[in-house]
Amino acid sequence: MKEKILAAFEKIYRHKPTLIVRAPGRVNLIGEHTDYNNGYVLPMAIGNEVMIAASPRIDDQVNLVALDKGNEEVKFSLFDIRPDSLGAWNNYPRSIIALIKRNRHSFPGFNAVIGGNIPIGAGLSSSAALLVATGILVEALGGLKLDKIELAKLCQKGENLFCGVESGIMDHFVIALAKANHALLIDCFTLAYEYILLPENAAILICNTMKSRELSNSAYNERKAECNKMLVELGKIHKKSYNSFRDVSLIELAQAEKQLPFYLFKRAKHVISENARVLAAVEAAARDDLAGLGILMNESHESLRSLYEVSSIELDTMVKIARQQKGVFGARLTGAGFGGCTVNLVEKQSAQTIAETIKEQYYKQTGVKAEVYLATPCAGASLVAMG
Ligand code: GLA
Repeated sequence: MKEKILAAFEKIYRHKPTLIVRAPGRVNLIGEHTDYNNGYVLPMAIGNEVMIAASPRIDDQVNLVALDKGNEEVKFSLFDIRPDSLGAWNNYPRSIIALIKRNRHSFPGFNAVIGGNIPIGAGLSSSAALLVATGILVEALGGLKLDKIELAKLCQKGENLFCGVESGIMDHFVIALAKANHALLIDCFTLAYEYILLPENAAILICNTMKSRELSNSAYNERKAECNKMLVELGKIHKKSYNSFRDVSLIELAQAEKQLPFYLFKRAKHVISENARVLAAVEAAARDDLAGLGILMNESHESLRSLYEVSSIELDTMVKIARQQKGVFGARLTGAGFGGCTVNLVEKQSAQTIAETIKEQYYKQTGVKAEVYLATPCAGASLVAMG
């Protein structure tokens, strides 16, 4: 991929780039729809990544070429960055460049070529990777020293402001801070984090249903609004001011059940129990308890399907097929849901066979050729050595 991007850069700009940055995609192991609810998540960065080759300019112009969008070229000035009203891909780089600039950091205009191998629209955070990669690029171009957590926060803000998704901080955070061979436990309220080793004998398979989740933004924003509303309603009933569902016990929720619309009750029940599952999953990982970890993942999927209502026929089918295979400990949808991928905890030595069987079975049942990726926990975004 690096060679392809370097060659494209030289062809387009007629000189060599001075910098290359990379940012990985991510898969979330457990803790879904909890980040924007100030809860816990346990994602890891994966080997698929976005790469940007760039060189500084002597003026304020930014030129971006996206190889995966038919070499589409976008140009704008650092002094006039507005969202692209078509809601296009370039809103991701635009937003983070604008926000770093707004923080009074100075850096030059630049020429860039963007490429990558994170499947787009599959829920593996290709957009968040593009945001973080652009942030790291601007940091290097300006010789800035940006704090990684601040960068993650800015990326989240950029996505909210320019791209119409009120996403939480999980994706940007793990993409900026991940460490090789580890998953990352994030407390999305305090932003404290801890690197978590996965059991030695575990492998992570990501199964792509090939059903794009691109049109799911409005449903995502709707869930977030429902949770905010529910927290206020619960506060009124119990005469308390809750910061998040972490402060609400399942007993308090049950006491309020009859006074609230059932769908709001279900959303809250998912979030409260999912937070507990993340912490239990971390303990299971520390005990090398693959079976226990798998059960928590299965429970997470059931909760997302029946309480949070963000699964789909394709995701349920993929999960069901996986669970029928020997050597699969747990399977669940990952990311926002509505389409995209499932994440599967499997026995390491059987991973390849399991991947093949899942593909075969999914094709038999749906007529769709799924993609399955073996994911290893990778390091967060960084500069790439030129050489
Ligand atoms: C998307 C968002 C994340 C998170 C997940 C659901 O991936 O970008 O912030 O909310 O959905 O857990």
